Amino acid sequence: MINIAILGFGVIGSGVAETLEKRRDRIAKAAGDEINIKYICDLRDFSSHPLKDRFVSDFGVILGDPEVSIVAEMIGGLHPAYDFSLAAIEAGKSVVTSNKVVVAAKGDELQKAASEHGVSYLYEASVGGAVPIIRAINDSLAGCEIEEIEGILNGTTNYILARMDEAGLTMEEALKEAQSLGYAEAKPDADISGGDACRKICILAAAAFGTLIDSDDVKITGIEGVTRETISKAKGEGCTVKLIARAARSEDGSISLGVSPKEISLDDPLASVNGVYNAVRLRVKDVGDMMFYAKGAGALPTASAVVADIIDAAKKKTSPAVWTRA
Ligand code: HSE
Repeated sequence: MINIAILGFGVIGSGVAETLEKRRDRIAKAAGDEINIKYICDLRDFSSHPLKDRFVSDFGVILGDPEVSIVAEMIGGLHPAYDFSLAAIEAGKSVVTSNKVVVAAKGDELQKAASEHGVSYLYEASVGGAVPIIRAINDSLAGCEIEEIEGILNGTTNYILARMDEAGLTMEEALKEAQSLGYAEAKPDADISGGDACRKICILAAAAFGTLIDSDDVKITGIEGVTRETISKAKGEGCTVKLIARAARSEDGSISLGVSPKEISLDDPLASVNGVYNAVRLRVKDVGDMMFYAKGAGALPTASAVVADIIDAAKKKTSPAVWTRA
């Protein structure tokens, strides 16, 4: 049996527990052993939850238990998520995460620590929810040269833009809907300002190009300035408005990144990515364009990526690479 601990029992943490419980047999077969949730670490009261006997409020209990070999970090934010992840790795436990703030700020350090301790640091769920884009870049395209990444990486803003377009809602009305569906960040400013999409494109660029660029160094324009008039004007020109994140590597090896709302022609496949869906288009040397498309936020779509990483960590897949820092 493989014992794991879940850190953070919010939207994603509870989705991961639900998936692990309801697909127990299938997941055991894929992992080669049964996955048991030994602990769930959260400060809130879950005394009436069916898994109530697993809850602890002290991360030290998990750290000190040699039976726990995998920690799934879904706390969100930089601290204490980063500190707990590093401590778990240094204690010889693999860490899987959905936390893009930690991966974008400290992914290189945590990968290095994981490699030194012979454990995994896996981060599929940090970008694109259910879209298996990290695996595609690290595994399926391991022998290829990625030249450009372009995509819709924030479900909340994509939902808002689509609802403004199709139902004529204001940004505030559409944001309220996105929040009620569990898509938005705790503070939705990170969605609206483009900061969340920026962290995700930094992670994808690091996976593709091997270099982690600081998200503070990326030029970002959010959707604050997009109005129903902006959208009607785009419609009149045969386009729609999407928040596009882009990363490219030029011949001389330099990497450029950016996030901004763009008019996308209706005949571009990105134009039909609506609601909470995310999409990533890769331009791959000698291969051509590839597109990936799935729900980019929400409990169970994101949990699918965390669970895949738990299975890989159980199979002792080590961290794919240690990124350098720009
Ligand atoms: N707030 C994020 C989004 C959640 O809307 O895409 C998933 O990372």
